[in-house]
Amino acid sequence: MYDLIIIGGGPAGYNAANRAAEGGLKTCVVEKRALGGVCLNEGCVPTKTLIHSSKVLESAKHASVYGVTVENATLDHAAVVKRKDKVVKTLVGGVAAQMKAGNIDVKKEEGVILGRTDEGFEVQAGAEKLVGARLLICTGSEPTLPPIDGLYDSLANGFALTNREILDLTEAPKRLAVVGGGVIGLEISSYFNAIGTEVTVLEMLDHIAGPTEREISEAMKKDFIQKGVKFLLGAQVTSIKDGKVCYKMNGEDAFVEADKVLVSIGRRAVTKGVGLENIGVLLDRGRIVTDDQLRTNVPGVWAAGDVNGKIMLAHTAYREGEVAVNDMLGKKDRMDYLSIPSVIYTHPEVASVGETTESAKEKGLDVEIRKVSLRFSGRYLAENEKGQGFLKVIIDKQHKKILGVHIYGPYASEMIYGCAMMVAREMRVQDVQKFVFPHPTVGEVIREALFG
Ligand code: NAI
Repeated sequence: MYDLIIIGGGPAGYNAANRAAEGGLKTCVVEKRALGGVCLNEGCVPTKTLIHSSKVLESAKHASVYGVTVENATLDHAAVVKRKDKVVKTLVGGVAAQMKAGNIDVKKEEGVILGRTDEGFEVQAGAEKLVGARLLICTGSEPTLPPIDGLYDSLANGFALTNREILDLTEAPKRLAVVGGGVIGLEISSYFNAIGTEVTVLEMLDHIAGPTEREISEAMKKDFIQKGVKFLLGAQVTSIKDGKVCYKMNGEDAFVEADKVLVSIGRRAVTKGVGLENIGVLLDRGRIVTDDQLRTNVPGVWAAGDVNGKIMLAHTAYREGEVAVNDMLGKKDRMDYLSIPSVIYTHPEVASVGETTESAKEKGLDVEIRKVSLRFSGRYLAENEKGQGFLKVIIDKQHKKILGVHIYGPYASEMIYGCAMMVAREMRVQDVQKFVFPHPTVGEVIREALFG
């Protein structure tokens, strides 16, 4: 009998398990694949490992600009993938060690909810039947795979790949078609373009990077094009087979030839086969409905991470796991979804928090927008010979509150959390102006923007 059974050991599940154990709950995590979930095994961490290697290659290729001579810089893709596997193994081992240190039981099985008895919730985990007073569902998400002609056969024969399989290719394709110009598509394109693959991105919208501040997504597109990536915007993919991706654009049929195709057109919550119907958990469009404490409609059952489909990001999942456990322990806590930062780890990076120019306009907010070039930063100039990075701050005109910050340039991912705090705490321009930022840093430009 457990105080808490967690189904799924990704960022939501393992962080919740740690917090629950610290809070004195006898906890069990049921994970069918690998601790760490998509993030550690086939998402955030592996892609960042690959992208780091491509940045090292690009630095070596352009080293002469900085007075350094590097001859014949090359990248061994198989070696990069091997290193990625080592990094993943270390991190997954770290999560396993945390579970052990917290006396958290881990069952490497598929967990299925059987129902509820007077004892508690029953979960089948392989041959074992577990009983828990509470349940936390953290089953995550999986790639959306619509019934495009030939897609399932192409996935089976290895012509089409999802983010999972592409990270394990030991040979880089000569030509890669990427269906979907969102976060996954762009990060993977960034890597393969840098190592010499011909990359073509097919995106059904007229812009890349979804809800990203439009001026940044346009700047990104320009930089990608300069590096040789081709974009087919407004392309509706109709079939993926026989070495071709066929699409319709402006009513015309066309195709691109490729050696591999990455399908990255979004993700959907994993709610099937979990036994949610056995206890009556409410779903909305395939996602578990939760409130700001991650409670579901069933008392004693919480759901955290991608499975509730609110904001499918690992760091959101991490915090949601924590909030759910705090709620179980009777500690006052809630999610604030408005100040969650997001990052696209391309080269250069994109980092955003809060309202964009477009979302502010849509909501009819009265805002002023300050845009500053990162070239105002001495450090940026020292390190980026021809960089055109910039940042934008969205400010509420009446109260001078900071509503959003969007950065395009190096270190953006490392700077954005400070901006998220400004947005979360509803800081005003004059509040932030009084803080001293370290010099010389790229982040100084954030403060500079507030004097604009
Ligand atoms: P996404 O939602 O970011 O982008 C999917 C793109 O595919 C959209 O631009 C959409 O318009 C396009 N699309 C949809 N159907 C299409 C079709 N039939 N033909 C052409 N284009 C089509 O989804 P993505 O990139 O698959 O990422 C999935 C999730 O993983 C997202 O929620 C993302 O936030 C998360 N993620 C986050 C990362 C990060 O924080 N750095 C990294 C990787 C993934």
